[in-house]
Amino acid sequence: MFYLWRRSQVPVKQPIKISRIDNLIIFLLCILISIISSYKLLLITPLKIAEILSWFLTFIEILISCGVLILVSKKENPTISSRQIFLIITLLLTVQVTKLALASTISPLFMIIPPALIISQGMGSITALAWVSIASLIWPNPDIVINNNLFFILLVCASIVSLLGGRIRSRAQLLQLSIFVPIGSFLSQWILIYKDKISLNRQDFVLSNGDIFSDSFLLAIGMLFTILFIPIFESIFGLLTKARLLELADKEKPLIRRLSLEAPGTFEHTLLICGLAEEATRMIGGDIDLIKTGALYHDVGKLHAPNWFIENQDGSKNPHDELDDPIKSAEVLQAHVDEGLKFARKNRLPRLIANFIPEHQGTLKMGYFFQKAKEKNLDINEYYFRYKGPIPQSKETAILMLADGCEAALRAMNINASDKEALETISNIIYSRKKDGQLDDSNLSKGEIFLIKRAFLNVWKRIRHRRIQYPTSKNNTFS
Ligand SMILES: [Fe+2]
Ligand SMILES: [Fe+2]
Repeated sequence: MFYLWRRSQVPVKQPIKISRIDNLIIFLLCILISIISSYKLLLITPLKIAEILSWFLTFIEILISCGVLILVSKKENPTISSRQIFLIITLLLTVQVTKLALASTISPLFMIIPPALIISQGMGSITALAWVSIASLIWPNPDIVINNNLFFILLVCASIVSLLGGRIRSRAQLLQLSIFVPIGSFLSQWILIYKDKISLNRQDFVLSNGDIFSDSFLLAIGMLFTILFIPIFESIFGLLTKARLLELADKEKPLIRRLSLEAPGTFEHTLLICGLAEEATRMIGGDIDLIKTGALYHDVGKLHAPNWFIENQDGSKNPHDELDDPIKSAEVLQAHVDEGLKFARKNRLPRLIANFIPEHQGTLKMGYFFQKAKEKNLDINEYYFRYKGPIPQSKETAILMLADGCEAALRAMNINASDKEALETISNIIYSRKKDGQLDDSNLSKGEIFLIKRAFLNVWKRIRHRRIQYPTSKNNTFS
């Protein structure tokens, strides 16, 4: 909980701007929710000033709640799109309409828990918890009496789904959740409500007058259907669930298979970067699944011309030497970003993953070709030898940029180099990126940069250990 709270408090990046029309539509939807949730207060006869005032306060309270929900979702997901906010608000609207029409026939567990699962999977636990608290507190029909025990069970089950839903990493675990939560709700309803129900007035159970077994069964069906439809929500609303990230990180994906076959050097470089970036992200408490997948796709653009990149040249001729034009060579290097973005579009990679492609290069200078051009013409403009950017906009893309810079240096380092020498090399590379302004938008703190250096050093120690050959015994037997 503390980790989740801390993550929600520290913005990774300023929230992205949402267009005026989208803002207006979202605002109108919030007004609609407030009207649906409060208009019944105006139907009381005779209508007095006190009732109108009470309606107005309820209306404003619901409107503010919607605003807070949107703010929380933006804070937890700084790159949230308007489509995703529509999803959160529309789900709230649907629940309010369902409550109005079917509150006395459908269990509130069924109305609130499945949407909470979608939100926690797509937008994170904090947003889901905020959504759950609003959806369970606002009941449009004032005649409905909520049974305290049922309300308690609803809050506990919905909170469990929200907390676990944001962390679950596979569809199998989601299936387990959709079986255990309904079983848990059935048992708790049976213990807390069913026994009392026999002796108490039926009026107290307007919301639980159904059979608790069929209610729990309905909840299980609802959750299973939600899991079935989550991939559709992912593509319509651009959601990036943990399960989707892990699917994309599968090395059998056609694009990654192509990379390993057509650009084996780049593939090896990618795997080493994954190791470096993963370790550093773990150290600073970032999103490991996101960076692992992002790292895997960051250089797919090199597939457009694999042999123009040094890691894929197996001692054969370097085409850049034959070209002998530094500006053209710089264009080939920039093309690995542009082509990478095209590959991302073609393969429908989520935006958060595609962001790694331009941001890992930022606006870095192609030093080697710039020097070569300077040898020919001293007045040459540096502009032609810088990547087009943007510079890293999140901690994860910044870590990938640093890992990308350190990888080649660490790979080339002497096996007998000391830890101090390795740390010095890493520090120099990171310092040069920082001085160049590449980390300005990433929000990495000094402490985090220190941790990243330590993480890279740990990975270097692992690489060195792997490179030391084990002595084999004379008769070549293994023990
Ligand atoms: Fe690159
Ligand atoms: Fe790279």
